[in-house]
Amino acid sequence: MADLPELKGKKILLGISGSIAAYKSAFLTRLLVKSGAEVQIVMTRASKDFISPLTLSTLSKHPVLSDVGTEAGWNNHVELGLWADAMVIAPATANTLGKLANGICDNMVSATYLSARCPVFVAPAMDVDMWHHPSTQNNIRQLQSYGNHIIPVGTGELASGLTGEGRMAEPEQIVRFLDRHFSAKEDFKGKTALITAGPTFEPIDPVRFIGNHSSGKMGIAIAEELAARGAQVHLVLGPTKLGTDASGVLLHRVTTAQQMYEKCLEVFPDSDIAVLAAAVADYRPKNVSDVKIKKKEGDMAIPLERTPDIAASLGKIKSDHQLMVGFALETNNEKSNAQGKLERKNLDFIVLNSLRDKGAGFNHDTNKVTFIRKDNKVKEFELQSKKNVARDSADEILEIRQLTTA
Ligand code: C5P
Repeated sequence: MADLPELKGKKILLGISGSIAAYKSAFLTRLLVKSGAEVQIVMTRASKDFISPLTLSTLSKHPVLSDVGTEAGWNNHVELGLWADAMVIAPATANTLGKLANGICDNMVSATYLSARCPVFVAPAMDVDMWHHPSTQNNIRQLQSYGNHIIPVGTGELASGLTGEGRMAEPEQIVRFLDRHFSAKEDFKGKTALITAGPTFEPIDPVRFIGNHSSGKMGIAIAEELAARGAQVHLVLGPTKLGTDASGVLLHRVTTAQQMYEKCLEVFPDSDIAVLAAAVADYRPKNVSDVKIKKKEGDMAIPLERTPDIAASLGKIKSDHQLMVGFALETNNEKSNAQGKLERKNLDFIVLNSLRDKGAGFNHDTNKVTFIRKDNKVKEFELQSKKNVARDSADEILEIRQLTTA
């Protein structure tokens, strides 16, 4: 690899379970050692059929442990768990994920995992159908909710001969993931954030709905930014084909404004920050037909009623320690409209984007925004990536927080 990440002095505990990808654990160990890390390895019995402990103990320069109890005595998984700066479980089979997610500690890897106080990184490896099985996906979500970091699987040829998702991340990617973790600024550590993103769909009948063109890109970028900087993020995401598997982001998928509202009311009381980036439908059909509405001669009208205003409702129950950010997509009288929303919804600042700006708004990867604060301070930005808008929004949140707590 071209530029080797710097992991000098880091104590890495590597857990290996029984997948064909275990052969890559030798390369991973080598890379970790070359990056300056001290590596201790624990293996499941099944993994020894794929890679020899002798290879791994030679590369890591430490004895490899695979049994909690041996004739020679008890291997101290508690001590190992406390020793490490990070634990990496690579490969993590579907079986091992199930054990980790449910607290089953019948081998050295899962017992050490339960004893570890350090951040844990899990690199799953399995066949495509096993990966997509709801039970595996539930285990992944469960592990994320405990604060573990999931290293995304790759797509490609699998040992079964099938092609698809499920390949373990390459050793280089795993080492980079660790490097990013150790070098990241964790200025949102200990904070919980609620983010809304995407459109909402309001059903008319079983096949039709009222919706909008929001992709959710902006809100997803903010969720990922805050999580990368240490926050525990709840992302309440309307119906969009996009999503995220970033570690630290708990994804709650919803369809209607009412569902989004209910999920937000549940999550908001424990949140320090709320960023409401969703394009919530303002109206929904008053009556939803159980059957597909047939067309008739002449025009038709659908009576509509207002949906709950999530931002305004949260603004009413917001306490002093909570900081709330809204978005405004305007086509005319941009600044005064945005200022009105800021006040009505009790926001700390509002991110204004105008549909008149090229490259801004729905579906683009870029956005041109203006921040307007409660104290009327205005910051205008050039057209930039949504990722950079997310970074600037996070910085603005911190700046306001520091001003109010100073
Ligand atoms: O739709 P509007 O322009 O009023 O949106 C301004 C802000 O209010 C946005 O942050 C949006 O996510 C939020 N909003 C909401 N619930 C609604 C409508 C808007 O949370 N029903």
